Amino acid sequence: MAQIRIRNTNERIEGQEQVKAFLDSQQVVYEHWDIAKLPDSLREKFTLSDQEKAQILSTYDAEIRDLAARRGYEIWDVISLSDATPNIEELLKKFEQVHTHTEDEIRAIVAGKGIFIIKSEELGYFDVELEPGDVISVPENTNHFFTLMDNRQIVAVRLFIEKDGWIAYNVDDPEFVKA
Ligand SMILES: [Fe+2]
Repeated sequence: MAQIRIRNTNERIEGQEQVKAFLDSQQVVYEHWDIAKLPDSLREKFTLSDQEKAQILSTYDAEIRDLAARRGYEIWDVISLSDATPNIEELLKKFEQVHTHTEDEIRAIVAGKGIFIIKSEELGYFDVELEPGDVISVPENTNHFFTLMDNRQIVAVRLFIEKDGWIAYNVDDPEFVKA
């Protein structure tokens, strides 16, 4: 289950209902997939063949199609990152730049952990620490970035509205303070 940390106050928000209520107040979509559906062979596996990625998509086909029907996504894929990923350092550096998109950024965590850092107009930046089963969507035109946790491993399903529309616009935000 996701946990929130508000960077300016170090306040933590935990518990399904509290986290959901907080993210609702920030227009951040937060849902859950049943991680027990994932075949054992794919649990906490971070180097995936194309066939294994397809297996993840077919495991969650109903959930993906439900989200797509509600929110207009047209395409989806699986991304895996770990120390086995070529250029992982470079990729992480690129991710850690505050940016926006013109469409929302939705991720369903299948394995590992990650953190979305999102800007609230009222509260400043807050961290959303994600675990397997967490589904999150950062609203369009909202400052954010993504990073991994110490174990640097994640597998996530990504959904997109437009094939070519998902571009990061970097933002230089003087209010942003690194954790
Ligand atoms: Fe992004």
